[in-house]
Formats: sequence, C-alpha cells, structure tokens
Amino acid sequence: MMPTIKFTAAAMPAKGTLVVFADGDNKLGAAGNALDKSGALTKAIKAAGFKGGFGKTLDILTPRDSDLDRMIVVGLGDVKKLTEFHWLRLGGRIRASVAGNVKVAVMVELPQGEGKKSPSVGAKNCLDLGVGARLASYRFDRYKTKKRSRSKPQTLTLHAKSASAAKKLWDGQEGVSDGVMLARDLVNEPANILTPKDFAKRAMQLKKLGCAVEVLDEKAMKALKMEALLGVARGSRNPPRMAIIQWKGGASKERPVAFVGKGVTFDTGGISLKPAGGMEDMKGDMGGAAAVAGLMHALAARKAKVNAVGIIAMVENMPDGDAQRPGDIVKSMSGQTIEVLNTDAEGRLVLADALWHCNKKFKPKFMINLATLTGAILVALGNQHAGLFSNNDELSEQLSAAGLDTNEKVWRMPLTPEYDKLIDSKNADMKNIGGRYAGSITAGQFLQRFVGKTPWAHLDVAGTAMASPQTEINKSWASGFGVRLLDRLVADNYES
Ligand code: BES
Ligand code: MN
Ligand code: ZN
Repeated sequence: MMPTIKFTAAAMPAKGTLVVFADGDNKLGAAGNALDKSGALTKAIKAAGFKGGFGKTLDILTPRDSDLDRMIVVGLGDVKKLTEFHWLRLGGRIRASVAGNVKVAVMVELPQGEGKKSPSVGAKNCLDLGVGARLASYRFDRYKTKKRSRSKPQTLTLHAKSASAAKKLWDGQEGVSDGVMLARDLVNEPANILTPKDFAKRAMQLKKLGCAVEVLDEKAMKALKMEALLGVARGSRNPPRMAIIQWKGGASKERPVAFVGKGVTFDTGGISLKPAGGMEDMKGDMGGAAAVAGLMHALAARKAKVNAVGIIAMVENMPDGDAQRPGDIVKSMSGQTIEVLNTDAEGRLVLADALWHCNKKFKPKFMINLATLTGAILVALGNQHAGLFSNNDELSEQLSAAGLDTNEKVWRMPLTPEYDKLIDSKNADMKNIGGRYAGSITAGQFLQRFVGKTPWAHLDVAGTAMASPQTEINKSWASGFGVRLLDRLVADNYES
C-alpha cells in the first residue's frame, strides 16, 4: 500500500521508526548526535564497519530506555555529489528498509559532526525524497486475491527545516508521480483486461482532471481513411480506438505541443506470428501510449501552463482469418501507400496515421511519439537509454537534457536519406520493413515520412518501458518511462 507522506518542521519524535543520515565520513546530523549522547551510536556504527556510503543502511539496536521501535542510519556518501536522482533513490532506499513499519520519521538534515549545527536540506531535495519513496512503493498486486490487505498503512514523515516549502512543492508535483503510476498500471495490465476499448475508457477518466477527451471508434477512423492503422486492427475481435486528450493550460491561441503513443494492447505479430517464448511481454506493447496517458495526467494534475495534446492509438495485432497478409498494400491517411511485408512491423503502421492526423488537426509546435517499436533498439542500447530519432536538433537537445535530469535517458540515433532509401518499395510508396540491419533506424525513417516539416522526435522505448532493470524507485515490471522525462521537457521549455 502507498505510504502517506508528510512534511514537518517538528522536532524528533520519541516513538516509531527513526531514520537518520550519516555522510561518507560517518558524521551524523543534529538528530543523530542527540541520540548519540553516550557515544553508543558511533560505537555501533564503527563495530558494524558502516562507512556511510551512498544508500547503505544500518539497523541500530534502540537503547533500553528509548520508546523507539527501530533506528536506521542511512548513508549519503559524498554530500557534494548528490544529484536529483540520488535524492529520489535515497527516498526509494528508505522506503524499502522501512516497508513493514507503520510510523516512520526521517530526520532530513545534512550531517556535520558533533557540536556544529546541521545544514538543512533544500525543499527540492526533500520533495525528491518523498517522490522516491512513493514511486518505490508502487506494486502491481490487484490480481493477488490473498495478499492484499495484509500490510498496515504507513505514514512516512519527513522532518526538515524546509518542510513547508517542500509540502508546497509536493502538492504541485504529486500528480506527476500519479502519472508515472498510471502508466505503470496500464503497462502491467494484461491484454484480456486492457483492450483498446478499455484503454479508451481509462483515457476518458482524464476528464475528471479537466482534460477534453474524444474517442474515435472504427467508423470514425474509417471516415478519416486511417487504413494503415485499420489494416493492423483487422486481425482482432477487439476493435481499435484512438483517444485524443487535450489539456488547455496555456493561452487560448497558443499552438499545442503534441505527444503520440503506440498503443498495441497485444502484439502477437499477426500472420507474421512471433515465437511463443516471451510473447506474454507483448501485453506491454502499449507502453508508448501509457506514457502519453500518464503525461497528460501529470500535466493536468499540476495544471501546467501549456496547451498539450496526447493522442493514443490502440489496436490489437492478432492473426485471424480476416487479418492482413504479408504483401498486402494499404493506403495510409496521408495518401502514401505501404506494402506490408511483415505484419509484425505494425507499430509504425499505427503511428503513421496517428502522427499524420495529429499534425493535420492540431498544427502542433512539435510532435513527440513514444513507441515500443523495435527489438533492435534493445540490441543497440539495452535498457539504459531510449532511442531518440529526430528531425530537429533543438528538440533533441531539450530531450537529452530532460533525460539527464530525470534519469530517463535518451540517446540520439541517426536519420539520413541513405537509410530512408532502404524502405522504398517496388510495389508501393514504401514497405514497412528495411533490410536485415539498422532495424530501429529504418523504423524511424518510416515514421519520418508522416510528420512533414513539423519538429518531431520519436522515442523507441522498447528497452525502457518494460522489463528494464529494477531501480530504487521502480520495483515493477513496467517502469512508467517517459512521464517524468516529458513532464520535465514541458516544464523547462514550454510553459508560459
Ligand atoms: N512490439 C514489437 C517490438 C518490441 C520487441 C517491443 C521487444 C518490446 C520488446 C514490434 O512491433 C515488432 O514486432 N518489431 C519487429 C520489427 C521487425 C518485424 C521489422 C521486431 O523488432 O522484431
Ligand atoms: Mn510487432
Ligand atoms: Zn509491436
């Protein structure tokens, strides 16, 4: 269960679980020193060989005359080197070590040794501790019928001089972590539950936050001639949907920023069927769309001063008697024709129409699409960076910077006319696969053919949205990658 996070400037409590910091020289803060009057604490730290290294924790026996249940020392390492992501990770670490405790107090202060006063921790760092603890506590356990009610609700109180400023930041930022968790929930949800229709229904919920949401059904998409998307949807009994989510927090005439997500609720590969091993992971093939939904939640919840559009295109890629075949030629909404040589390269077909529609309807300042698009991006970058493909250097640099700040990192890959040629087709304007090599790049080239001159970036999140290594702030299969990244991009560059 999620902990309740509180901020207070109050003095150290006498009961419950207490967390104090030590730095890389094993110096304690004022709270730690107050508890160390007899020197027993320092002695215990020494005896345990604890060095105050970053994120290391040490459980200390509470003195017999104390009402505390538990005391934990958490190492900060070299305090000068702590970045935003360090504070998030610390929050996650703390949450992990106190998960079973009901009342937890964290003494948020920088160590400075006995006698001296502890320098205080800024509101932003304090906020990040709370955010890290919250994100770390996320679990996908709604289908566990036995385990759910066991854990008691936890209150995690951050004691800091900057408490009231931190609380203010928290009230503004809570929606961002909610957006991350919404994205995780959507990705973790199995495909029998999260069909395109169900996904659209969940997108509708964003109305509660003040978004305008419109859902296009099959008929509406037919009328718009989205035949590339509809060709993918043909193989499934679950009809496709496209949700268009708008947040209007900017000036009324201001052009919007736009985000487009691949929402393949399950990808069997279609007639170009995938092998059985690991196919279950393809329930996460809507990770791009989940990030867009989470981002729209974040922007609306924190009332971002920006006009933003989120388009999520939901289809299920299945092999059916009516499924499209390798060799079929479809006409995309743009009028360009596509020879479908592999029905498993379906994400680009879906995005082709979604991007075209977005550009035409909204004339956005830029478009960023997110997609679990290629297995090849895992070969190139593993799980540490999303692939970034763009026709615009400025947007790329903004994304890279936001990536470093949020630790949702991106790495730019090339797009050039030589690569573009690889998807020319004998029988149509283009084919939906390139050759054996550069699979992520030819996918990017394909998308670029549907964005015109609009500044655009494509994030291939196949390696980062799901099944990526667990971190201190993510203990779930689905990471929610992209929500914090794009929220930061908007906050730093596009809000009035
Ligand atoms: N959804 C997959 C890509 C994917 C692979 C996402 C692994 C997450 C983890 C995509 O639709 C796909 O099947 N791509 C093919 C493209 C190929 C047929 C050109 C791939 O990567 O093999
Ligand atoms: Mn596929
Ligand atoms: Zn796919």
